Amino acid sequence: MSLPSVPATPSAARRSPGASVVRRTGPAGWFTAPWRDRSGRFSAWKTLVLGGCVLPGVYMTGQWCLGDFTSRPLNQAMLMTGVWAVWFLLLSLAVSPARSIFALPKLIQVRRMLGLTAAAYTVAHLIFYGAMEGFNLPFVVGEIIHRFYLTIGFIAVAGFVVLAITSTDASIRSLGKRWKLLHQLIYPIAVLSLWHFFLTQKIDVTLAVLPTGLFLWLMLWRGLPPAAERTVAGLLVLALVAGAGTIALEYAWYDLATFVPASRVLAANWHWGPQGPRPSFWVTLDGLAVVVAALVWRNIPKAKLGGLALR
Ligand code: HEM
Repeated sequence: MSLPSVPATPSAARRSPGASVVRRTGPAGWFTAPWRDRSGRFSAWKTLVLGGCVLPGVYMTGQWCLGDFTSRPLNQAMLMTGVWAVWFLLLSLAVSPARSIFALPKLIQVRRMLGLTAAAYTVAHLIFYGAMEGFNLPFVVGEIIHRFYLTIGFIAVAGFVVLAITSTDASIRSLGKRWKLLHQLIYPIAVLSLWHFFLTQKIDVTLAVLPTGLFLWLMLWRGLPPAAERTVAGLLVLALVAGAGTIALEYAWYDLATFVPASRVLAANWHWGPQGPRPSFWVTLDGLAVVVAALVWRNIPKAKLGGLALR
């Protein structure tokens, strides 16, 4: 069964992320304010997304000011910004599938905002790390050079900064086709970020497996044949394969990188312990939720959407 057709989201547009952005000119022709649409008008839904982007930062600041942080606030802020960076990175990668599956071409307008938010949280993460070390630059540089998990984290942060700097309308115009190529770097940057996440997790890597499983879904979706990327069958298979891939990935990590018996972790996917379902369950469930949400969304008469239409 195929979902209804989407006139405004051709596969070609998905495959060339820069294409629809290149035409964009902000009021100054250089950068569009995040609360405005391409024509420079105020956009309520972009403002809402912007609010969501700054919310974790505001929440952390509030917690800190109210003294709700642990006895090591810098460490807690460092950990939290790292986790938020990963989630915003995944959200930015989810824009292409979402706009295609839900027939919402204008979602593309928030991709840059989400990517910049991920970059901002990684830079904050690095700054908090520096602050934890008393901004002792020689020591921080030495740690980044000698500790592998910090080295790959640093490469990822550097990549994020390059992508953020070149995300302006002016850069998109001046780099032309090379812009798209350059911004494909987001994929290795994501891999390095997730690898760094795993390495920071000591023994129990559950926290890192979930976003990695979702990243797997996002990458597998990009590998689907264009004819299958919006069909119920294609998305169902994707959910199951991403779930199975998450199990395989988790098993491989415990088997290769820890002394924990990987077979016991594998068995926990079928016999839930006190900790509840393993990440593979949530990845599969999210994949299935996409199918259900797409079917529901597509069957709502457009007239009923009224003010919900993304402007
Ligand atoms: C130079 C760059 C970076 C440095 C110096 C750095 C440093 C650190 C340190 C020291 C930790 C804590 C490790 C521990 O508790 O033993 C950590 C955790 C973490 N980092 Fe980074 N990191 C960098 C880049 C990144 C990037 C690019 C991302 C993701 C986009 C990231 C995401 C995370 C996450 C998710 C955690 C785990 C948080 C948690 O356990 O709650 N880091 N990082």
